[in-house]
Amino acid sequence: MSKDHKNPPKILIPEVRIQARVRELAAEISSDFADQELVAICILKGSFIFFSDMIRNIEVPLSCEFLGLSSYGNETVSSGEVKVTLDINEPLEGKNVIVFEDIVDSGLTLNYIMRSIGARGPKTLRTCSLLVKPKSLKAPVQIDYSGFEIGDEFVVGYGLDYQGKFRGLPYIGYFENEH
Ligand code: IMP
Repeated sequence: MSKDHKNPPKILIPEVRIQARVRELAAEISSDFADQELVAICILKGSFIFFSDMIRNIEVPLSCEFLGLSSYGNETVSSGEVKVTLDINEPLEGKNVIVFEDIVDSGLTLNYIMRSIGARGPKTLRTCSLLVKPKSLKAPVQIDYSGFEIGDEFVVGYGLDYQGKFRGLPYIGYFENEH
């Protein structure tokens, strides 16, 4: 089946489940960092919707930074190469940093992020990913806050795209013949 708007993706995780999980993860982070300040890093592009929902639910003072990375081109398998399209210019030294990812697939991107951000000397560095594909992991990664574990199917929606499309869907979807 073709991945176009005439054949909308099937629902894998409905909007209500995503929103409930966002509230749970945000409550956990708020409790772990009570009375502290956070730097929340949004990994562009895929995390922008998850990030927006998370920061509106986290109840500790935070500042927002944006790190643009591209690794996939137009393919649905990881190239393993990470290109920085937008860097963070604010110092992260001595700060409590949480990185927000949309999905951890091979783990290569998160592994790169951890090394790159870790080198900037944060006081604490944690990771939060809405989705994790445990079967696809190839690189060692630490995911402190994980939304949902899924299979190795390609998913779209809630910020995630296929060839730049489907980011605006309020749910996580998949294409039927690939599930
Ligand atoms: P990794 O480096 O293989 O872990 O891939 C991480 C990045 O690949 C994510 O931040 C997404 O941008 C993209 N990606 C991985 N799997 C999917 C998927 O199923 N749908 C959409 N994008 C994906």
